[in-house]
Amino acid sequence: MHKTLTDGARQQLPPDRINCFRVAPSRPVPNLLQDARSGLLERPRSMPPKYFYDDRGARLFDAICDTREYYPTRTEDALLQQHAREIIDLARPDHILEFGSGTSRKTRHLLDACAGLNRPVTYWPFDVCEPVLGEISHALMQDYDWLNVRPLLGDYHAGLDALPVPEGSCLYLFLGGTIGNFDSPDAHRFLKETCNRMRAGDHLVMGADRVKAHAVLHAAYNDSDGITAEFNLNLLKVLNRGLDADFDPGRFSHSAVYNAAREQIEMYLVARERHQVRIGALGSVIRFLDGESMLTEISRKFSLESLQAMLTAAGYTLDRHYQPDNGYYSLVLTRPASVRSEV
Ligand code: SAH
Ligand code: AVI
Repeated sequence: MHKTLTDGARQQLPPDRINCFRVAPSRPVPNLLQDARSGLLERPRSMPPKYFYDDRGARLFDAICDTREYYPTRTEDALLQQHAREIIDLARPDHILEFGSGTSRKTRHLLDACAGLNRPVTYWPFDVCEPVLGEISHALMQDYDWLNVRPLLGDYHAGLDALPVPEGSCLYLFLGGTIGNFDSPDAHRFLKETCNRMRAGDHLVMGADRVKAHAVLHAAYNDSDGITAEFNLNLLKVLNRGLDADFDPGRFSHSAVYNAAREQIEMYLVARERHQVRIGALGSVIRFLDGESMLTEISRKFSLESLQAMLTAAGYTLDRHYQPDNGYYSLVLTRPASVRSEV
């Protein structure tokens, strides 16, 4: 494990409090109140998954990653561990910018490879969850004393125009299969916006979860320790806090089902009984029927064909495709098709 560059530029130990650069939205995105108005007052009810990630939600997601049933994290981790050196060698980044970076735990393989190849990079974690972004940036600065860390706080659905454009080549990361949490039009828009930013020499490494036996998918989103259930139910606490609402988590249950026709896991919160919820910020009371569900997340699963088609449609060409023997997961190294690369 290489954590120190032999002759990389050293930096001072970071201050205790890390300042995150706030990425201004390039287009209006609905705030919590607007999302609640359109998602909760209308039927069928739904909320966007970004609200999962308050401090507790981010930590619960991290705990999901360690459950026996949730294979995506450990599968992607193994792929990154195995191929990080080749990725860094091919992409030769000066910068690594990661969308939805979370705890950046798997990214460490790429940082270790940078150290091993004596490539000092600046790491730009981009996330919507400020406490985790600050904490992880601090930890990375301590663990990699050669690493320049520039945390970016923002919403990747709000456009990327205000992201800094640093000098040198950039390796973009979108790990964890988070692209599956976007519906098809949003995934296309996001991948195209990223592609449009990329210059010659830039690359994107993206993880995507694959279609597989339904029982394996079902178990991954219904872990036996109930952590995914807690993660899902935590959304109600986020809504209570942000909307002055009185959702009672005890009156809802977690449900995650695989919709084979749509090739996606659908996660719901299902009312256990008929009841009403006050939403102070909307000045409304909403009535849940017994068994009524609220969609909280989709997690799309890809075939090789649908993954390739999504990338091609957004303007990418594939340099490498890594997968485990069981085909559970894909990690792709891509670049814009229309930009000549030095690779
Ligand atoms: N990439 C990490 C974390 C995946 S969890 C991994 O592979 O383990 C999804 C991450 O995306 C969380 O850290 C969450 O805070 C972040 N996220 C969710 N919605 C977002 C949004 N709209 N904009 C920016 N980050 C978002
Ligand atoms: C972040 N994302 C890729 C996870 C997924 O698998 O869709 C979120 C998650 N939801 C429940 N478990 C994990």
